[in-house]
Amino acid sequence: MQTAVIIGVGPLQGLGAVLSRAAAQQGLHVVVAGRSADKLEAVVAAIESDGGAATAVACDTTDEQQVVSLLEAAEAIGPVDLAIYNAGNNMPSMFLDTSVEHFEKCYRVGLLGGFMFSREALRKMVPRGSGCLLFTGASASMRGKPGFAAFTAAKGGLRNLAQSLAREFNPQGVHVGHVVIDGGIYGEKIESNFPEWYEKLGSEGLIGLEGIAEAFIYLYRQPRNAWSHELDLRTHVENF
Ligand SMILES: NC(=O)c1ccc[n+]([C@@H]2O[C@H](COP(=O)([O-])OP(=O)(O)OC[C@H]3O[C@@H](n4cnc5c(N)ncnc54)[C@H](OP(=O)(O)O)[C@@H]3O)[C@@H](O)[C@H]2O)c1
Repeated sequence: MQTAVIIGVGPLQGLGAVLSRAAAQQGLHVVVAGRSADKLEAVVAAIESDGGAATAVACDTTDEQQVVSLLEAAEAIGPVDLAIYNAGNNMPSMFLDTSVEHFEKCYRVGLLGGFMFSREALRKMVPRGSGCLLFTGASASMRGKPGFAAFTAAKGGLRNLAQSLAREFNPQGVHVGHVVIDGGIYGEKIESNFPEWYEKLGSEGLIGLEGIAEAFIYLYRQPRNAWSHELDLRTHVENF
């Protein structure tokens, strides 16, 4: 059985978890990875109750050895055919008050982790000449914004990393894609951190998890003579 590795998996009503369930429905054994074992186990249980197969691996994507071990663990279950870098931490801060620690934290989760994860995934995929490596982007991937310098620097860097990898590794048979999520997600993160915004925008004004997962699976399933590199998703009411 081929495997999918998805890093940045948290609550069940979060993007990492929904991507994991969608990947399992493609017949892949899904290695769900994040820092919280209890959340990962809940996602594994949900996949198993859907009839799929999954394994939880605790991994902090900013730790090189843990990332190396994650890809080794996945490959030991089966060839890695899909790898998704979903980790990201949107932490606003006014620029003149931004500490080096804050900037570095955004960079480590948003970009450095993506570099290490993609290098290890590609080390498995390239010798086989197949596989699909996808990245979760945000509005911040496309443009800087006051109050978000650290986050947008990381997300913009991740998008450029994805482009570089697509141009280098598509010709070697690995599909590299990037999905821009242009707006808030109708999920646990916004509901718990910004309840008023969640209430006000609701399911019409925030982007649906199932629709986002469909976009990732669409990229994964594309035939190699018709690959997209990037998809952008927003609600019908988004001003862009
Ligand atoms: N939420 C939104 O509105 C929104 C909008 C646009 C784009 N996005 C993008 O979508 C992606 C998913 O974000 P989300 O906020 O919706 O969360 P999510 O997919 O529900 O969960 C992502 C999980 O990643 C885990 N994580 C964080 N840092 C990590 C690290 N260093 N190593 C491993 N795992 C880590 C966290 O779980 P633990 O704390 O348990 O490790 C977090 O719950 C991000 O790339 C984000 O930029 C989100």
